[in-house]
Amino acid sequence: MKFPVGTKLLGVGAGLPSAVITNADLEKLVATTDEWIASRTGIRERRIANDETATGLAIEAAVDALGFAGIEGKEIDLIIVATSTPDYLYPSTACMVQAAIGANNAAAFDLEAACTGIIYALSVAQQFISTGTYKTALIIGVDLHSRFLNWEDRNTCILFGDGAGAFVLQASETENDVLSTYLRADGTGAQLLKIPNPGTNYPHAAPEAIVSEEKMVQKFVEMNGRPVYEFAVKAVPEAVNTAMEKAGIKLEEIDYFVPHQANIRIMLSAAERLGISKDKVVSNIDKVGNTSAASIPLAFWQAIQNKQIKIPAVCALVGFGAGLTWGAAIIRWMAKDKRLEGGEQVHELHDHHFKAHHLEKETQHEPKHEGSHAHRPHNK
Ligand code: UT7
Repeated sequence: MKFPVGTKLLGVGAGLPSAVITNADLEKLVATTDEWIASRTGIRERRIANDETATGLAIEAAVDALGFAGIEGKEIDLIIVATSTPDYLYPSTACMVQAAIGANNAAAFDLEAACTGIIYALSVAQQFISTGTYKTALIIGVDLHSRFLNWEDRNTCILFGDGAGAFVLQASETENDVLSTYLRADGTGAQLLKIPNPGTNYPHAAPEAIVSEEKMVQKFVEMNGRPVYEFAVKAVPEAVNTAMEKAGIKLEEIDYFVPHQANIRIMLSAAERLGISKDKVVSNIDKVGNTSAASIPLAFWQAIQNKQIKIPAVCALVGFGAGLTWGAAIIRWMAKDKRLEGGEQVHELHDHHFKAHHLEKETQHEPKHEGSHAHRPHNK
């Protein structure tokens, strides 16, 4: 075998909850308007998990991506799930996905790099493949931020949506689709964006002598939006430029720009700074909001579904988020959906409108979800 081994990208998949919350629904919960949300963020609606779980959506995305790739679970030998909102602290989401898809031969672990998670996962999987350690890898980004949102905080609850996205990668001795990856972190910005709960610094249960009550209530996403915005508009061009340089790719060779879907203004401002035209920007933020680790594969998947991305394509993927973390990858996309060759039905987005009165009604009841920290949208 020749080292390093090339990495082919074979498939992409998605898992989305069925319930939709529109900006109009949110107008009933917090002092906001559709106009404010749409103009400041680009978001018009988002998917929110009711009975769906992080594991369930990750499995849905995995099955979809494997179908696209024409690969069976038993062929996978590495599963990495990027998530900040797993069902459990342990076991890992990756182990539960492994069992569900029959990937009996796979190593499986979760990775946490917030919204940059899928770029980190892509880079880690590529290292394992390029050294010849593993042949076929499944990487998944999944997040259910809705379980950690304060539905009275208009600064955060309007931004996030739930979902999962996945890619399938395979070793190749002749071709390579992952042209470069570039990962960064700056922990001095750790406090700008965080979910204190359910870390051990903010536990659910502990004797009062050990942990004060004040610490035990800090359970929601906390974000200082402005500095995160300012960090992002600088970090995105820096990451893409560095990844292009590492790949030996020039700007004019980039066909599509697939940034983390946090805010359309960040995406367009970064594209402008880079000199990438608007029509190359891939975005589905209007439909799904910020789905954190799922956001890049979900945007990519949507652009394949909509036939925006045409093969062969050179794409710049770029993520940024809590940590702070950021990173980019230059990839080549050549994959065709194997199910279309067989005339099978592909995964489709189904819209089930989620009514605000339903949301309010949910607040009257105890959540059905397992575990004290996991809850549906509520007001406290
Ligand atoms: O994926 C993780 C990474 N996260 C991000 O990338 C988020 C980055 N940050 C952002 O995208 C933006 O900072 C936000 C969308 C969160 C906020 O947009 P902004 O343009 O930075 O607004 P702002 O925070 O400066 O607030 C402007 C005004 C304020 O009112 P005053 O003080 O000017 O009277 C806010 O109170 O808008 C107000 N505001 C709202 N008004 C209506 C804040 N949230 C809302 C809201 N509806 N939902």
